[in-house]
Amino acid sequence: MYNSSLFQLPAAFDGTKNSLDEIALHFIYLMHLKSIRLYEHSVRVSNHAGAIAMRMKLPSSEVTLIRYAGLLHDIGLLMMPNSVLGKSPYLTTREMQLFKKHPDLGANMMETIPACQDMIPYIRFHHERWDGSGYPKHLKNVNIPLGARIVAVADYYDSNIHSASDFWGKTKSEAIRRIFSCSGILFDPEVIHAFVEVLDH
Ligand SMILES: [Fe+2]
Repeated sequence: MYNSSLFQLPAAFDGTKNSLDEIALHFIYLMHLKSIRLYEHSVRVSNHAGAIAMRMKLPSSEVTLIRYAGLLHDIGLLMMPNSVLGKSPYLTTREMQLFKKHPDLGANMMETIPACQDMIPYIRFHHERWDGSGYPKHLKNVNIPLGARIVAVADYYDSNIHSASDFWGKTKSEAIRRIFSCSGILFDPEVIHAFVEVLDH
């Protein structure tokens, strides 16, 4: 289940299945061109997010949508200058302001694509935090769409394990401890609970 192909979709999507496949392949190819690190991060986040959604027993169509959202969550980074992308996490205040635009930029990139409409909120709000300390809208608790809450946990975990800086890179157990300590503060406790169960199996 955990490492299954991103493109083995359940039948639930039917009408939009092919176009979502094609769109995802197109964007993931662009991300690969932009940065191998970004591409690999996106694939891992997709796998983690899909596994959490399955553990939470969400409908299969929603699991699929969340896997795609995990894959494309950072698509707005395509519009970041390489000088900013390569410097993360050591960004100046001005660079950080630019970086924080990527959820909105990514969501905006999807606005004209009919097959992507349902995942736009998951892209736009994947940096929101349970306590309202995230961005871009400072949404709180269940006001953050569930798909975005799931992608946020998967993203945070992978960013801890595979940090752009060796200094910040954590072992798996350190990352689990850290993410568990953020339960109910930065992240939805139910999502954290499901993710810890996923990692235990
Ligand atoms: Fe992001």
